[in-house]
Amino acid sequence: MSELVRVAEVSGPPTELIFGDWYPAMRVGELREKKTAKAMLLGVPLLVGRKNDGKLFAMRDLCPHRGIPLSAGWFDGETVTCKYHGWRFEPCSGQCREIPSLTSHETLDPTKIFAGAFPCEERDGYAWVFLPEAGMGRVVGELPAVPEVPKFSARFRTAHLTAELPCNVDHGIIGLMDPAHGPFVHQAWWWRSRASIHEKTKHFEPIEDRENGGRNAGFRMSSHAPSANSAPYKLLGVYGEPITTTIDFVLPNRRYETIRAGEKWFASLTTVTPVTASTCRIDVCAVWNVFYWVPFVTPIATFFGARFVRQDQQTMIEQAEGLRFNPGLMLIDDADKPAKWYFALKQARLKGTGEHPLSGPVTLHWRS
Ligand code: FES
Ligand SMILES: [Fe+2]
Repeated sequence: MSELVRVAEVSGPPTELIFGDWYPAMRVGELREKKTAKAMLLGVPLLVGRKNDGKLFAMRDLCPHRGIPLSAGWFDGETVTCKYHGWRFEPCSGQCREIPSLTSHETLDPTKIFAGAFPCEERDGYAWVFLPEAGMGRVVGELPAVPEVPKFSARFRTAHLTAELPCNVDHGIIGLMDPAHGPFVHQAWWWRSRASIHEKTKHFEPIEDRENGGRNAGFRMSSHAPSANSAPYKLLGVYGEPITTTIDFVLPNRRYETIRAGEKWFASLTTVTPVTASTCRIDVCAVWNVFYWVPFVTPIATFFGARFVRQDQQTMIEQAEGLRFNPGLMLIDDADKPAKWYFALKQARLKGTGEHPLSGPVTLHWRS
């Protein structure tokens, strides 16, 4: 179901990254028994795998001895062995279990040595990895909850999509929350056409996350009946129930969308994850119980979703060409207001001020 479209070569300028949070590293379905996979998050190379007991791990893909990638070595389902001098590590803790060159003349205790290892949890088919602040050392103590797509019934279907973007995470995120590009980038008979552009009024409210000092602060586009001019939403209307939707953006990179009509629901979590300081990856995980008994709904939904994501991706590939020249950029009211809030929220989190750009509900108007 997933389609990874790789982009390389040109990428735009870097941006500051938010450490100390969970990011999706890869789909766990790509992991094979006794095999590891390489991933990259926030410029940190990772070695991801699953132990025989089912536990996922994410090590820093560098041997603490001389820096060779651990991915060059071996994994037997229990421990990771470095290719260079054979140091053996328990991959969840990173603890060294054996240094083959040691003799009885030496007192060095291998178990005092640790390779980098990060908390790694499975949710919605992704390996989520907690990347601590630089210099924080080994992660101890309680961690924030692992993000997850909300679900409202026991039975549901799932689909996911991935695309790499050649721009930094800020451009990925503001592209995601940008309402004005829809009629131009996503022109399609089943969605909307340029001719259907009309004025919209949307209500927003702050998400404070006070109990955590605003670490996952954001904003919500409040419950409303979705655009009357979009076909997929019309489809939901067949149940004759009032439709409510909410779209939440929360730091550092998450967009939750929920559509509910009586018993029927659709929910998605879209994340834009920094791969490096100047590139990112968009992951969409959608879950729904609408028509869940109908075959082919998942491939059809994935097909339409994939087209949608590919249109965004293609646009950002073109944008990256321009961004290479470091142009000045503009954010206008009201259509770019959510982007302004994002930048303010990000700064508040990086500086730890706990400030929120919204002091209460706000109404925005734009044409799209
Ligand atoms: S570099 Fe890994 S064991 Fe020496
Ligand atoms: Fe888009």
